[in-house]
Amino acid sequence: MPFFSGRCLSTVKLLGKTAVVTGCNTGIGKETVLDFYKRGARVVMACRNVEKAEEAKNEIEKVCINESEKGSLVIVKCDLTSLKSVHECAKNILDTESQINILVNNAGVMMCPKSETEDGFETQFGTNHLAHFLLTLLLLPRIRNSIPARIVTLSSRAHSRGDINFDDLNYRNRSYSAVDAYSQSKLANILFSKELAAKLQEYNIVGVNTYSLHPGVIKTEIGRHLNDTLFRGARQLAGIVLAPFMKSPELGAQTTIYCSVDEKCANETGLYYSDCVVTKPSGKACKDEDAKKLWEISTEMVKLGDYNPFTARDPGIKQ
Ligand SMILES: NC(=O)c1ccc[n+]([C@@H]2O[C@H](COP(=O)([O-])OP(=O)(O)OC[C@H]3O[C@@H](n4cnc5c(N)ncnc54)[C@H](OP(=O)(O)O)[C@@H]3O)[C@@H](O)[C@H]2O)c1
Repeated sequence: MPFFSGRCLSTVKLLGKTAVVTGCNTGIGKETVLDFYKRGARVVMACRNVEKAEEAKNEIEKVCINESEKGSLVIVKCDLTSLKSVHECAKNILDTESQINILVNNAGVMMCPKSETEDGFETQFGTNHLAHFLLTLLLLPRIRNSIPARIVTLSSRAHSRGDINFDDLNYRNRSYSAVDAYSQSKLANILFSKELAAKLQEYNIVGVNTYSLHPGVIKTEIGRHLNDTLFRGARQLAGIVLAPFMKSPELGAQTTIYCSVDEKCANETGLYYSDCVVTKPSGKACKDEDAKKLWEISTEMVKLGDYNPFTARDPGIKQ
């Protein structure tokens, strides 16, 4: 385990604040929920596997039994391979949560075999980018009403070997590469976070900041597809080769927590972080024209129509 790993040292409390974290029944997301809960936040766990989410919730509550200022945990179903599920998840949250101060777009799938989401998108692009794009924009009217608010999106250093292939985002006319598709989706995460910051500024929306990040190389379940896409034993081999560089999920959550709560980055937006410091992403992640183009295409792909998340009225909670 590396000794130089960044840590969020802020002791800020989140009493009275609400956070939404996607894909948090395990790995980095689960550690993030644990931290927010200890700080007193109400945390909405947006997970596709509700049973597994219940187990994670129970475990977190058990670990924190003696904490004095803990918050509360609720589970909302959210399958990011289905835009219908994303719409239902957003509606559930908007119906019940009067504020959203932190949104963490954490869930991710890495190097899965070639497959499509319910809506016909390549699975990694659809899950890691498009579904989070849609969820964020559906929740934005409430987030705008919950300032100061932060939108944190997990990318990966793998973005640097990626390209956004605007002619064939879904691998219809080129041979599929599981690693390239993951890198494309993680590059999209950074471009989205950057363009969201730019758009918020264009609309003079102050107090909603965006952050994207690389969490490090973390010992989680992210390699679950390696044996299927590479060769039998690849996951175990990767575990052995990468062991000296691997961090625990607790350390892996530190940059997410830093971007979500730390006072030091409270006035930063649109930037990319690693080990709790601002880091320059690859040149491809800095291209304004690509960020704008991806935004336009993503808007069409998730069928946002006339909905403008920057001006739309907050529907308010259901009484
Ligand atoms: N671990 C690393 O070394 C590393 C490095 C760079 C970036 N990252 C990024 O960090 C983030 C968290 O990954 P992790 O390492 O914690 O991986 P993980 O242990 O595999 O956790 C991923 C989470 O995402 C959820 N998820 C996957 N597909 C989903 C879907 N269709 N709908 C809803 N939830 C879904 C999983 O839920 P299920 O259990 O239901 O599948 C799980 O809760 C990802 O975005 C990943 O790309 C990780």
